[in-house]
Amino acid sequence: MESIGYHERRGELETYFDRTAVEAWARLTSTAPLSRIRATVRAGRDQMRGNLLGWLPSDLTARRVLDAGCGTGALSLEAAQRGAQVLAIDLSPTLTALARERLPARLGLGSIEFRVGDMLDPGLEEFDHVVAMDSLIHYGLSDVLGAVSGLAARTRHSILFTFAPRTPALALMWTVGRLFPRRDRAPAIEPIAEHVLRRRLALEPALEHWRVGRTQRIASGFYKSQALELVRK
Ligand SMILES: C[S@@+](CC[C@H](N)C(=O)[O-])C[C@H]1O[C@@H](n2cnc3c(N)ncnc32)[C@H](O)[C@@H]1O
Repeated sequence: MESIGYHERRGELETYFDRTAVEAWARLTSTAPLSRIRATVRAGRDQMRGNLLGWLPSDLTARRVLDAGCGTGALSLEAAQRGAQVLAIDLSPTLTALARERLPARLGLGSIEFRVGDMLDPGLEEFDHVVAMDSLIHYGLSDVLGAVSGLAARTRHSILFTFAPRTPALALMWTVGRLFPRRDRAPAIEPIAEHVLRRRLALEPALEHWRVGRTQRIASGFYKSQALELVRK
């Protein structure tokens, strides 16, 4: 059962990632020192980013890549340095501006266009690869399926996305998280069981020509996320 719809959740995320959590997010994605717990999250995220980038062709010259929910742009940067033409889109103008500021002067052969907006905007162009690192974890299962189906229509080769795997440990963290006052809480993460996700992906009409490829779960302290690769058949 899903607690909240796409537009309402998107509004919460925009507020959270553009205001409430901007400083914490800027720090987490920098090289500044962190508490031990947050350092485990940074390490897990670095591992996840490396994993996702490892699932893209090593030579991305002239490939069009959508970094869907780009945040401060670390994944976009590495893809562009491998030659990709990246569209990096995020709901948060503040994080997008920070991502732009963090760009080195030279990107090599690749390029990055930053855009503020919804990664599901039907006006977006076509891409070879779409990567959504931890940008769908706050949406319920049917919104994730809707998002992936919408992205599939504009993707030529692969869609890489992460979800929060529903495991007993995560269910416990989730319950404990509920004890904190609402104002201090990040928008809820919506854990999804892998077998349910796989079954539902297989039933999506828009994904008829897609199959699940690789998957990788990463657990590092408080960071728990699982990557899944969808490839065109
Ligand atoms: C947990 S952060 C991850 C950011 C980045 N992918 C990374 O791994 O560093 C999730 C990001 O997704 C963005 N986001 C969530 N829903 C979005 C949507 N519908 N369209 C564009 N961005 C979205 C948020 O604004 C936030 O910056």
